[in-house]
Amino acid sequence: MGSCLSARIKAESPLHAGTNGKDSSSRLSSSSIPPTPRSESEILESSNLKSFGFNDLKTATRNFRPDSVLGEGGFGCVFKGWIDEHTFKAAKPGTGLVIAAKRLNQEGLQGHKEWLTEINYLGTLHHPNLVKLIGYCFEDEHRLLVYEFMPRGSLENHLFRRTAYFQPLSWNLRMKVALGAAKGLCYLHSPEAKVIYRDFKTSNILLDSHYNAKLSDFGLAKDGPIDGKSYVSTRVMGTYGYAAPEYMATGHLTTKSDVYSFGVVLLEMLTGRRVIDKNRPPGEQNLIEWAKPYLASKRRIFQVMDVRIEGQYSLRGAARAAALAVKCLSTEPKYRPNMEEVVKALEQLQDLDAGGSIKSEATRKHQRTRGRESLSSRKAASYPKPSPSPVAA
Ligand SMILES: Nc1ncnc2c1ncn2[C@@H]1O[C@H](COP(=O)(O)OP(=O)(O)OP(=O)(O)O)[C@@H](O)[C@H]1O
Ligand SMILES: [Mg+2]
Repeated sequence: MGSCLSARIKAESPLHAGTNGKDSSSRLSSSSIPPTPRSESEILESSNLKSFGFNDLKTATRNFRPDSVLGEGGFGCVFKGWIDEHTFKAAKPGTGLVIAAKRLNQEGLQGHKEWLTEINYLGTLHHPNLVKLIGYCFEDEHRLLVYEFMPRGSLENHLFRRTAYFQPLSWNLRMKVALGAAKGLCYLHSPEAKVIYRDFKTSNILLDSHYNAKLSDFGLAKDGPIDGKSYVSTRVMGTYGYAAPEYMATGHLTTKSDVYSFGVVLLEMLTGRRVIDKNRPPGEQNLIEWAKPYLASKRRIFQVMDVRIEGQYSLRGAARAAALAVKCLSTEPKYRPNMEEVVKALEQLQDLDAGGSIKSEATRKHQRTRGRESLSSRKAASYPKPSPSPVAA
């Protein structure tokens, strides 16, 4: 794994680009995020989270050893570690509870605010499709977050990294992950939680050993609108490519901004391409602009589907998933479905794919379509070289 040398500033300066080679998803940011409604001590005291001592986490991660780095984001590096599940003290590697400890490497108010926002939300929201936050460390200048370890890492790694460990996900697993992530978002938007996530992207979708998807990273989350308002007014934050166009233009944040980001991720899953990829030829660097014309036509859909899942899906399944992505990506937010509708559509899609007869018919059709496809367009569908660490800029 990476040595955790490069770090991206998260939400300090406006509209900066990447620092670690992953400039395909530059982070949108502002000089500050609005304060959370509860005070710091209220948040820390009211949560049922464990407060860890820095030395315990240092020992648990074997002194933050570079080879225990699981990944790196704008916040800092994420380290694998082991703790005793009863005492929460550091345990011998390979024993007890496996954790992922995210260590803030940024000084200043901004990092602290995102750290606190994460505790505020993940300390109170619980759902099978949200990652579990076990605790935090708040000692001197040290700020850490301690999560359950997600053995299959992020969706980003599975879609865009080419290593023996991260095998390409099958069609069925992609649809399972899409459904799990959709359920997570649906819960956040529900009257029970009323939260806008604001950072839906492949690196924030983590996978357990059974490929159940769990959303992580709530540092940019916001309470949904109240008092009958339809949007929350905010500074523009998020990640280039994933943030909804109207949100970027106005700062008006709604649940439909998350739906747009969901459409982006679904499209990335169907095509195996990053939403913004500067390594591709001009005209193909923006996935949405490039893919949209193909998605509208059942006969042309296969020209943009990920070659690594060829023959695994039905014509109808692919067309429905593509149509769902297109709907989520509607320029007009009101034409986007809500997350409940997205969940329903994905559930129906799973039922459809369970019926094998449609699939064999479609596979034949698929093969005929592929035969007519121009070679040059397929050649262009090579994957970007994996970045040294899965960090969004
Ligand atoms: N609980 C976890 N279990 C296993 N791996 C994790 C866990 N949390 C994070 N990771 C890994 O660490 C990587 C970095 O995570 P992090 O959330 O810090 O940054 P990011 O999502 O890649 O970028 P950004 O800062 O823009 O959100 C993730 O992509 C994932 O591969
Ligand atoms: Mg993340």
